[in-house]
Amino acid sequence: MSAALLPAKRERFLRACRGQDVDRPPFWFMRQAGRYLPEYRAVRERVDFLTLCKTPELAAEVAFQPLRRFGCDAAILFSDILVVPQAMGLTLTFGAGEGPRLTEPLRTRDDVSRLLRVDPGRDLAYMLAAVRQTRAGLSDGEALIGFAGAPFTLACYMVEGEGSTSFARLRTMMHADPAAYDELMTRLTDVVADCLQAQVEAGADAVQLFDTWAGLLDGPTWAARVAPHARAVLARLAACGAPRIYFAAGGPHLLPHLGGLGAEVIGCDWRTPLAEARRLLPPGTAVQGNLDPVLLLAPPAVAAARAGEILVEGDAAAGHVFNLGHGVLPGTPPAAVAAVADAVRGFRSRRAA
Ligand code: CP3
Repeated sequence: MSAALLPAKRERFLRACRGQDVDRPPFWFMRQAGRYLPEYRAVRERVDFLTLCKTPELAAEVAFQPLRRFGCDAAILFSDILVVPQAMGLTLTFGAGEGPRLTEPLRTRDDVSRLLRVDPGRDLAYMLAAVRQTRAGLSDGEALIGFAGAPFTLACYMVEGEGSTSFARLRTMMHADPAAYDELMTRLTDVVADCLQAQVEAGADAVQLFDTWAGLLDGPTWAARVAPHARAVLARLAACGAPRIYFAAGGPHLLPHLGGLGAEVIGCDWRTPLAEARRLLPPGTAVQGNLDPVLLLAPPAVAAARAGEILVEGDAAAGHVFNLGHGVLPGTPPAAVAAVADAVRGFRSRRAA
């Protein structure tokens, strides 16, 4: 299909990911589908979170909800990064009011060697069905983003068994039992690459690798022990042509190491000004971000004003996908998100034709 025939929102999103000029930056919000939306809570009153992820028509329905309200340029598959460890044989629960738990965390190399091989077509069929169903229902030509947790971030949860601020167990394993760490990361690299490839084949236009906890590491350790695996995942996707977004929360210290990773787009959290990120990344890398999600808890006009500054900063070069610096926080008023969406939609790039 020639570029001129692509639907406008999808074309805008794909062009920005590839570092090409657009009329205005495309936008979506990490965690745009979720509990801050009353229509999401209405669905969750009927089904628990994992049932929602595993019921393709409901997953598609909640993926559409933010598009209807805010007119985002892209939908993101509704799922969770932790369904991959579940498919590998771990028991996953989401208790009411608490974070996720993996009830048999991995502590030894034997534990790692018992993980199951995953065939996404068989073991994550519901996820691929959700991609197809979401793709089929995108009414306004929006882009569809697939995603997975990066090997390091998945390993953090699989070894810790629950959320943590330090993920000390995996980070200890990395140094104390490097064979177990390397085997776990290698296994995850294969599964994550297969999963993302299957999502693209099912209709995802782009993929985001969430490496939420990578910022816990110093740059050289990240480069030596994490980057080879993230790079291998992204390399496996090169042939399919879908733009690859890599997002690591937690600071600018990783940016100088991100060149050569193979991502067309680097997600930036709010701690890193977009101009600084661009200085530290190879020329031509697109940036995604980076409104502090806390701004959405301030009056909508304040959030929209800050979004306006980020739009100007992003427009200094081609290749900006507007987003938050991390996910929408629970309790965010939808009106603040709408005010930011309006600010983005009203912006004109100074390079627009
Ligand atoms: O962005 C989207 O709208 C798509 C869906 C999506 C979810 N989780 C839905 C979800 C995506 C992309 C994720 C990714 C994810 N999941 C990450 C990486 C992203 C990030 O924020 O850095 C992580 C670390 C997880 C693991 C996870 N899932 C946690 C820590 C939690 C609990 C936190 C919370 O908000 O309750 C979840 C649950 C979860 N994943 C919810 C949603 C909508 C809330 C579930 C509910 O309805 O109760």
